[in-house]
Amino acid sequence: MSQEDSNLEARLEEQETFEPSDSFVEQANVSDPGVYEEFEENWPECWERAADLLSWDEEYDTVLEDGNAPFYEWFTGGELNASYNCLDRHVEEGRGDSVAIEWEGELGETRTYTYSELLDEVEDFAATLRDLGVEENDIVTLYMPMVPELPIAMLACARIGAPHSVVFAGFSADALATRMNSADSEYLVTCDGYYRRGDALDHLSKTNEGLEGVEHEVSDVVVVDRLGDDLDHDLADNQHDYDELVADHEGSTVEPVSRDAEDMLFLMYTSGTTGQPKGVKHTTGGYLAYTAWTSHAVLDIEADDTYWCSADIGWITGHSYIVYGPLALGTTSVMYEGTPDYPDKDRLWEIVEKNEVDIFYTAPTAIRAFMKWGAEYTENHDLSSLRLLGTVGEPINPRAWKWYYKHIGNEECPIVDTWWQTETGGMMITTLPAINEMKPGSAGPPLPGIDARVVDANGEEVDAGQAGYVTVNNPWPGMLRTLYQNDERFIEEYWQEYSDPDADEWVYFPEDGAKIDEDDYITILGRVDDVINVSGHRLGTMEIESAVVGVEGIAEAAVVGGDHDVKGEAVYVYAIPEDGYEDRHDELEEKAMEAVLDSIGPIARPEEIVFTPELPKTRSGKIMRRLLENIASGDELGDTSTLRNPEIVDEIADQVADD
Ligand code: WTA
Repeated sequence: MSQEDSNLEARLEEQETFEPSDSFVEQANVSDPGVYEEFEENWPECWERAADLLSWDEEYDTVLEDGNAPFYEWFTGGELNASYNCLDRHVEEGRGDSVAIEWEGELGETRTYTYSELLDEVEDFAATLRDLGVEENDIVTLYMPMVPELPIAMLACARIGAPHSVVFAGFSADALATRMNSADSEYLVTCDGYYRRGDALDHLSKTNEGLEGVEHEVSDVVVVDRLGDDLDHDLADNQHDYDELVADHEGSTVEPVSRDAEDMLFLMYTSGTTGQPKGVKHTTGGYLAYTAWTSHAVLDIEADDTYWCSADIGWITGHSYIVYGPLALGTTSVMYEGTPDYPDKDRLWEIVEKNEVDIFYTAPTAIRAFMKWGAEYTENHDLSSLRLLGTVGEPINPRAWKWYYKHIGNEECPIVDTWWQTETGGMMITTLPAINEMKPGSAGPPLPGIDARVVDANGEEVDAGQAGYVTVNNPWPGMLRTLYQNDERFIEEYWQEYSDPDADEWVYFPEDGAKIDEDDYITILGRVDDVINVSGHRLGTMEIESAVVGVEGIAEAAVVGGDHDVKGEAVYVYAIPEDGYEDRHDELEEKAMEAVLDSIGPIARPEEIVFTPELPKTRSGKIMRRLLENIASGDELGDTSTLRNPEIVDEIADQVADD
């Protein structure tokens, strides 16, 4: 490192706050600090601002209907169509030739869809779905990797008022079956396979295995041919080739169906405390308004920008900030199929340079990997097109933040560290890039109109500097409306902890710990439930545990998250062998690993599986997870005297240290 570089490094390390440049502020969509007060004074009507970003078929009567809280309704009486908002209106405004999706395939091929072309594709597929018998309100499952047919299918569903349920392609066959069963979904769109680091992965066999676990009849399965001659499959009677079906519907006109603002746009399954994934329900009006507004205000997206979110559409980030928010604003959204290190570790920067990306949104785990690979991978690329950077999914440590700021943003781009969840639909806590100063490591203040607080166990706000729990004390348009067909669990999971139903006071509890400072900046500390965050992916420890204890020869298991340099957290499994299996650890380990991959997928692959004759338990018999987490993270173990079996702790810790 040159002297100049190391001086720079040292200066950055000490700097605690950062300001956006004047040139950024001048051009920003939202730059008047008065926006916070405007929202506060005019709440909930302030949210009309978000609704105004959309085109409505029927104007709404009421902004917020709170008569049946916490089953809030937004923009009631209004009608609109999400695909119309993401496509037709831009074409009608004369922007049909602007690029909507710029797709970069892993092997270097590209596909460009203008708004007119995307609209055509969506209409053709919407006609195809209708022809197969899909009706308004039928739930269509999309089990697809990052191919253009995924957003096309989402928008086609939206066009005919059929909610989609996207299942991340990396999830296992079992996970697909669970989600299709839960949603009673009779239609599936999938693909033959896809490429990962140059290898062709067989996705259809996994799909077929999943379909075996679906308890109801599946009417039709549409299969996108991604691999061509690299993989040949026989299709079952109810399985159809995507291209063949669509060819029969080329040039179709499908009028967008007017949907009630509160009609379901999609379901997205996410992990929670218990083993069963939760079907988060999002609606057409509130969700679309909220993702459009946050894309405008936080990501500063304008129609003539090229914007890239490197998430997978199989997660909420891709739904909100690759598809719905950006396309509602008529921008160019880049979509990348592959991994960041294929064919080399500069792949993302090559894509930024080639497409002259203005705004880039990624996850801290990716940034930590870039740091590890070294800045040389960025240096041969011209990244000067970038204007704004963002992160999402997990806390970002100040070192990674500063690396991102310097090596990707050239100290010129503001960074937004955006806290939100599948359930919130869109961003909740983050700086507004032209208004607030940035403090690396801290997401920032709640967005205008969002009453997020940090409270103690009794719901009292904590003092600056103290740790507590995040709550959101008023509703917002992008919020989930319920858990699919399970209103009771919706209340239990999110509203029980801090609400006072007798006083009709409802407080949303996201199950995250946090600290707050004197400027109301919130630093997220992580989940306080049994959910862990591996590379920005949310995994339920109970789901993993139930996979492991399903293995013959394993009597009991505890799964926790341990600190990991790149992934943030990694999965640690502690398991007790049954009598007679004590000496068969290798065999059990292999089976347990397989069970986790089968029931969830490779994202949940355990970092380590530790066999132990006992788990540390309190006198009342509860497993001391905190201790197991400390062992996994290599942290101090602290007081173990309240345990029934304190001697086991050292034994386990020695094993983990040895491995
Ligand atoms: C975590 C992803 C710290 C948090 C959009 C939350 C974050 C969970 C941040 C939701 C952030 C998300 N800083 N932690 N900027 N963003 N999280 O549902 O624990 O996949 O509860 O939604 O990710 O994960 P989910």
